[in-house]
Amino acid sequence: MRKFINIVEGRNVAPFRTLKSVEKFANKLHVSLDVSEDNSSIILSWIEGLLNRVFAEKGSGARVMQALCSYADFAKKEIILEVLGGDKWLMNYYKQFGFEIDPEDEKLVNSGYWNTPNGEKEPGPSMGRIPR
Ligand SMILES: CC(C)(COP(=O)(O)OP(=O)(O)OC[C@H]1O[C@@H](n2cnc3c(N)ncnc32)[C@H](O)[C@@H]1OP(=O)(O)O)[C@@H](O)C(=O)NCCC(=O)NCCS
Repeated sequence: MRKFINIVEGRNVAPFRTLKSVEKFANKLHVSLDVSEDNSSIILSWIEGLLNRVFAEKGSGARVMQALCSYADFAKKEIILEVLGGDKWLMNYYKQFGFEIDPEDEKLVNSGYWNTPNGEKEPGPSMGRIPR
């Protein structure tokens, strides 16, 4: 049987089974999370390590991303997001969790479309993660 690691305390626990539980977890870690879902997908509109003027501890965003992926795998839903300003660091960050750039947008990334000084071209490239 697959084991789930409690990413907060290092114990094995049940996976996240509702989006609400992921939102609560984010709240606890002071991570702002704007997510919604339909029958087949989860849309991640925003994640930030700052909530009600309290900064999240380093790495809290990654813990919330892992929780969200755990729920997405349980619910068999794809996660979709847009990378703000085509930020290269953020694209690599999301790749760690199994996200891939939409092939159409990958062409634009490779052509340097989003390489503007302030990353002001919006929306950024779309990325998606297939459930496991
Ligand atoms: C993206 C985010 C939620 C990730 O949270 P996290 O997993 O807890 O990671 P951390 O914030 O601890 O960042 C880890 C490291 O990456 C660096 N980093 C974060 N965002 C970066 C960026 N866009 N470019 C370069 N480095 C970045 C941090 O400074 C930190 O560096 P350090 O290890 O030298 O201290 C968080 O960095 C954040 O709130 N970013 C601002 C909001 C944002 O861009 N959201 C994404 C919208 S698509």
